[in-house]
Amino acid sequence: MAKKITDKVTWVGKVDWELKSFHGNELSTGHGSSYNSYLLRDGGKTVLIDTVWGPYDKEFVSRLKEEVDLSSIDFIVMNHNESDHSGALPELMREIPSTPIYCTKKGEAIIRGHYHQDWNFVNVKTGDKLELASGSLTFIEATMLHWPDTMFTYWSGDGGILFSNDGFGQHLASESLYDEDVDRDILFREAEKYYANILSTYSPMAARKVKEILGMNLPLRLICPSHGVIWKKEPSAIVEKYLLWSDSYKEDQVTIVYDTMWQSTRKMAQAIAEGLREASPSTTVKLMNASRDDKNDILTEVFHSRAVLVGSPTINFGVSYAISGILEMMHGMRLKGKKAAAFGSYGWSGEAVKMMSESLSGAGFEVVDEGLRLTWVPDGEALESCVEWGRQFAGKL
Ligand code: FEO
Repeated sequence: MAKKITDKVTWVGKVDWELKSFHGNELSTGHGSSYNSYLLRDGGKTVLIDTVWGPYDKEFVSRLKEEVDLSSIDFIVMNHNESDHSGALPELMREIPSTPIYCTKKGEAIIRGHYHQDWNFVNVKTGDKLELASGSLTFIEATMLHWPDTMFTYWSGDGGILFSNDGFGQHLASESLYDEDVDRDILFREAEKYYANILSTYSPMAARKVKEILGMNLPLRLICPSHGVIWKKEPSAIVEKYLLWSDSYKEDQVTIVYDTMWQSTRKMAQAIAEGLREASPSTTVKLMNASRDDKNDILTEVFHSRAVLVGSPTINFGVSYAISGILEMMHGMRLKGKKAAAFGSYGWSGEAVKMMSESLSGAGFEVVDEGLRLTWVPDGEALESCVEWGRQFAGKL
């Protein structure tokens, strides 16, 4: 059902309570999500901003028809054209095939690449405007937030609204649509998980873009992303978080990510944690089993940390399947300013620690220790060496 959010703007998106994973199975979405689409009506002109994911295309178009005569839509603005926002375009354009689609040049290429249609594209760039009766829509390219095509659209009416698409989004389903109506801890946790897993790779661009927008001194009553709730109560709070998250973010936390076959590497992880805590009581230490814990929650904890310790037994001259996957994902995040080291048990060849250290280094971590390897099942003396290694790692933080 459509929901009016200001005098001129109505939300016409889809709340997806059932969504459990996103980007195939790359990202877990434990609190569902939404695909936010907005209808702006001002002085006889109607603008649709973004659409929804393909599986909801018919529902989207039929609900949109209940809200507006489709033929009265003057412009469609596509801020970003990944399938979760552009998926309903073919269904919509079947009804209004000549309606102009405002998007970046790269946006047009992406839409053409996805849907292979010769629609009425209008390419826009930063600073271009669409004048309406009581205000203007200004386009602001936001390259790589999240794809090369991405732009934000700023509406100067209604006290100022930034339609930021993926930027400032969260995978969080809510019937209310507003930040003030959801659990604040869950909201910021989901926003951080979203940033860590989707946008951290592009932190330099995020930092530049947020500063650029702040420098414009635009009145900002609402930030309306295309996923999750609208920032109404605290638009500045999420902007401040983005400044923090995009600048080599770290809290006083060490995350120990490990995998284990017969509990030896797990015992090492626990003993290392003991040493760390003993030597640095103010540091939060978290242990996560890469085979059991959610991979995206692990990456969020890594993002949150000042250092990470990665442990795997040596398996068939290599690293465990789960740890290999986490290391690969960490590589893609392009994190900066974090320290790391590796550990693990082995029986005979014992390559895993060296391989993990090299992988961490390649992922941009500062590897501050050559790593800790133990054979077979650690006894009391071996575990004491793990405690001591944890103490020494704390000294290198
Ligand atoms: Fe929500 Fe990059 O799409």
